[in-house]
Amino acid sequence: MLNKTSLLLAICLLAAVSVVRSATVTFDCAKVPNICSNDCYAIQCKGKPTTLHRDSENSSLHRTQNACKSPNRCSGNPDDSNSCDEYPFASSQEGGAGAVTRCVPAHENSVQGGTLSSFYSANSIVNGDAYTVAFTSTAGLQYCSSSCTNTGNELIRKDDHLQSRPNFTQYNRREFLTDEGHVITMFERVTEPRSLDSLIGTKTWLAHEEREVTIVASKD
Ligand SMILES: *[C@@H]1O[C@H](CO)[C@@H](O)[C@H](O)[C@H]1NC(C)=O
Ligand SMILES: *[C@@H]1O[C@H](CO)[C@@H](O)[C@H](O)[C@H]1NC(C)=O
Repeated sequence: MLNKTSLLLAICLLAAVSVVRSATVTFDCAKVPNICSNDCYAIQCKGKPTTLHRDSENSSLHRTQNACKSPNRCSGNPDDSNSCDEYPFASSQEGGAGAVTRCVPAHENSVQGGTLSSFYSANSIVNGDAYTVAFTSTAGLQYCSSSCTNTGNELIRKDDHLQSRPNFTQYNRREFLTDEGHVITMFERVTEPRSLDSLIGTKTWLAHEEREVTIVASKD
């Protein structure tokens, strides 16, 4: 018979690991390159979190608090940049003042809005629930690799609270493989090396295909 203590320990370890395993939404950057660029810049260059909490209640309020504003600052632009995107998302508790914004094509913004709401319902994410953001097909996107040189298209509304906080979270970019060969790009806190390894064996939701795949290995 299995030793009771080790069984108990195994259960405790599983419980501890499951805390990290919030549902993951993976955006296909081949479909929404401008949005991925904005999200990656926010995370990698401005220390915005990769774990967000749904807050669809305050979306409109959040949009008025960040540099998109209302009416949005991009609306007079040509088609390739007439919609304003923000990260963290307006529909998250982390959204609002201090969010990183970029003018993107309206169709990318509607693709992302649609995939987020499908993700919420497919994974039963209600207001207050945590989820993780990841990316695939990031090749060629400067902010999703290691560059943080703002080429002029990223804007953050100045905010006293943020300015008085010089230190922000720093991330390492890491890649994982899914059972179907997709490469998933994720950002891991430098203070928590290998913490994302706990995601191996869990599912990630491919936003562009509206279905789940399993993360099977780390690429490094
Ligand atoms: C919306 O914002 C209010 C005020 O900050 C907050 O109390 C409430 O919890 C937020 N709603 C959600 C779903 O997080
Ligand atoms: C910022 O980080 C540095 C290095 O870890 C530390 O020495 C400094 O005290 C921090 N500053 C603040 C305001 O937290």
